[in-house]
Amino acid sequence: MNIAEQIKQLAQQYKSDVIAYRHHLHAHPELSYQEHNTVKFVAEQLRPLAIEITEGVADTGLVALIKGKNSAKKTIALRADMDALPITEQNNVPYKSKNEGVMHACGHDVHTSSLLGTARILNELKEHFEGTIKLIFQPGEERIPGGASLMIKDGVLESPSPQSIIGQHVMPLIPVGKVGFREGMYMASADEIYVTVKGKGGHGAMPEMGVDPVVIASHIIVSLQQIISRNASPKIPCVLTFGKVIAEGATNIIPNEVYIEGTFRTLNEEWRADAHQKMKKMAEGIAEAMGGSCHFDIHRGYPFLKNDPTVTRRAKQGAIHYLGEENVVDLDLWMAAEDFAYYSQQMPACFYRLGTRNEAKGIVSSVHTPTFDIDEDALEVGIGLMAWLAIEELGA
Ligand code: NI
Repeated sequence: MNIAEQIKQLAQQYKSDVIAYRHHLHAHPELSYQEHNTVKFVAEQLRPLAIEITEGVADTGLVALIKGKNSAKKTIALRADMDALPITEQNNVPYKSKNEGVMHACGHDVHTSSLLGTARILNELKEHFEGTIKLIFQPGEERIPGGASLMIKDGVLESPSPQSIIGQHVMPLIPVGKVGFREGMYMASADEIYVTVKGKGGHGAMPEMGVDPVVIASHIIVSLQQIISRNASPKIPCVLTFGKVIAEGATNIIPNEVYIEGTFRTLNEEWRADAHQKMKKMAEGIAEAMGGSCHFDIHRGYPFLKNDPTVTRRAKQGAIHYLGEENVVDLDLWMAAEDFAYYSQQMPACFYRLGTRNEAKGIVSSVHTPTFDIDEDALEVGIGLMAWLAIEELGA
């Protein structure tokens, strides 16, 4: 039996255990940077495998090493994230969240349980490959600064240094049984913008006595869009959205200040830095020219995510081999952000999508909604495919 066949058999064999892991994790979700019980559970499952485990990386992260023959030859990394979201689950399932107000609504329970299953398969097959596979279980994907950046700071990409990294994420738009890949630019950087526009409030009937921050803020919102349409290269995708504007005056009251919040997303690190300067300068300039002032604050989020063409092409070919050409789809560029981007900025990386949708079973909800769930057949695909891709990558 060849190795892909052996992996498929093991994936089938471990599927029910992995579903049980997922049910446990799903029922006991923990918010970003609070994944204490989650990581304890991960360690408990890995310990019987007698592989090298390092706990407490970036506090609630864990790293494990599966060493094949000739383990110093090459190292590659596989990554899962473990945190949940502040959402109250509305699914009526036996494994519904027991932690009120917290839910695995982005599938990180799937990623974690899947990587545990992959670990068992790879551990079983370690006589059949050369090199080392580093398993990264990271905290805090959902919250700035991003668990990936903390894991990197804590040395996760050193001793041994992986030559490439692969991550998998659920995708409820792709039917179960299929996976998706994209080379190059894939997901956006995401920065949060917080603006306070100060004027001088007063009676709505006497604007000449004050400085109206509502009008200033309106100009700022409209003008900043010109940075997207006139300064950004048309070749670089870019989005600026202001979703919160607070002016607490009234029909006849001009407030003292207006508060604005927004998000800026793009796929080029140089333009990103340049755009930050330009937006700040324009907002401050407009406020000043109109007699007010403006405090323009940008909280830098994750960088953009790029999939290394070589690693991604290899992984896609591997997926075609493992699942068949009809089950491998091409992904579109996506303006959402993902902290796997930090790894992708440092080393050749591939972030692919695991299809979890099943319309016949009514499993169609988007991630980050209270009714998100997956078709758990995806777990058998996920654990086997990742093991196969890891072995292929080591051999490349
Ligand atoms: Ni996610």
